[in-house]
Amino acid sequence: MGHGFRDFLTRQEAAGDLLRITPKIDTISEMGAVIARADYEKIGKGLLFENPKGFDMPVFANTIGSTYRRIAESFGVDEARAVPGAAQQMRAAMANPVAPVHVGRDDAPCQEVVLTGDDIDLGILPILRLNPQDGSKSRDFMDGRFVCAVACSKPAEGAHNLSYHRFEITRPDGGSVWIFRGTGDAKSMEEFWNAKIDDPPSSWDKEKAKPFPMAFVIGVGPEMVLAAANSALPYKNNDFAFIGGITGEPVKLVRCATIDVDVPADAEIIIEGVFEPFDWTIQGRFASFNGFYDEPRRRPVFKVTAITMRKQPIYQHIHIGRPLNETNNIAAFFRSVKVYQDLEQVLPNVVDVFVDPSAGCGFTAHVSIDKKRVGEPRMAMMRAYTALQGFCKHVFVYDKDIDIRNPHERDWALAHRFMADRDLLVVPDVLGNILDPLAQGDMGATAKLGVHDGHNAIPKGVRTFMGVDCTLPLGLKIMERVLPDPEVEARVDQLWPLIIGAA
Ligand SMILES: Cc1cc2nc3c(=O)[nH]c(=O)nc-3n(C[C@H](O)[C@H](O)[C@H](O)COP(=O)(O)O)c2cc1C
Repeated sequence: MGHGFRDFLTRQEAAGDLLRITPKIDTISEMGAVIARADYEKIGKGLLFENPKGFDMPVFANTIGSTYRRIAESFGVDEARAVPGAAQQMRAAMANPVAPVHVGRDDAPCQEVVLTGDDIDLGILPILRLNPQDGSKSRDFMDGRFVCAVACSKPAEGAHNLSYHRFEITRPDGGSVWIFRGTGDAKSMEEFWNAKIDDPPSSWDKEKAKPFPMAFVIGVGPEMVLAAANSALPYKNNDFAFIGGITGEPVKLVRCATIDVDVPADAEIIIEGVFEPFDWTIQGRFASFNGFYDEPRRRPVFKVTAITMRKQPIYQHIHIGRPLNETNNIAAFFRSVKVYQDLEQVLPNVVDVFVDPSAGCGFTAHVSIDKKRVGEPRMAMMRAYTALQGFCKHVFVYDKDIDIRNPHERDWALAHRFMADRDLLVVPDVLGNILDPLAQGDMGATAKLGVHDGHNAIPKGVRTFMGVDCTLPLGLKIMERVLPDPEVEARVDQLWPLIIGAA
């Protein structure tokens, strides 16, 4: 069996891992809440909403979900060793890529229907509002619907970049897209627009700028979902060849109908479009990976040039909202792999890394080592900190007998192997991440805290008290927390037994 979306659904169904949800569920207020609960409760099954209210197109969520199970399956490794295993598989796939093959339009199910011009209408797709306040505070507020799907671009001839950039729908034929500074697509956009986007508009060369094309690919297998989140792949890489290296099977590509980008031929739906140079808007706030609503910000406008799809497509959605969620799980997994790879360079005795998805999917890293020398834990702390370029702010280092993904084991080690005056490393005023609410505005920097156990002189009969104040400083105004809406939750309470098949 292949590795496309339909093959994946068939495998899930056969394994009893597909929940078919038949009640009518609203895509604006309810569906996001149902998916959020499934993620929060670690329901590791696929969710197929067969009757989204007002649409005849089913919605599928939880391709990866909030556990490591499908990540481990995709890399063909043991779940308990998912991080070291994936690090090794990624190295192998990069060394032995399998080039994609191109097929004609007649062999591309994703182009069975092609809508262009006046026929373009994003309103035919069951696009969700993910969280209660998504899209609010926007000039163009229109339900707060966001596409969260694989974004595909062609940064150079022979290169294919896969990524995620959330796309807010504000018109039947477009909206705006969040492209983080520093991602491959931000760099490509600057190359196409022939400008450093943060420079003053007077320096932009409008003559030489050209539109930057992108396609959102909806309905792909887990290997592709994961590859798009994998920032270890250089942006001028052939990401499809990497996926081929992982699955051992070439990805079939077709050229988009209206732009110079190639997409997986067996996907469900493709949204093609362009970013015209220097065309910006203010995007509504929406839930970010850390469980807060980010503020409205300037984003590039995306103009849809075509919607292509299968005759009876399924809309696939990747969820983001209150942690724990699917996005955090995926993003934190690759950050774990990155920290593991960096630590291996200086401490070959690193055993495992767990970047906690609930903790801003990068703010807290747990590391286990096969400790041989005093001082290794502090070495691990510093390397783990820099591995994520200031993203991480708390590092905990444990012995190898601790299962670092189990909070009970971690708490046990903290209670019995840690003394705050010996084992705590605090480095103030280190550059932090802008989405850390305590590193915004006047505070501007964040402190790094590391916990280790490297001291040999232990005085008898005394211990150290450490109090950790996790309350907000009074008077500090920060981003609003993403929380469920009680009325919607009451409805989800009613639906829940039907959804998980317990009714
Ligand atoms: C589900 C999900 C949603 C994401 N959303 C965004 C986003 O809205 N904007 C963005 O720039 N990056 C987002 N990211 C992070 C990028 O996908 C990630 O940095 C990617 O690997 C960048 O790849 P590139 O540098 O090769 O383009 C998201 C990641 C995941 C897993």
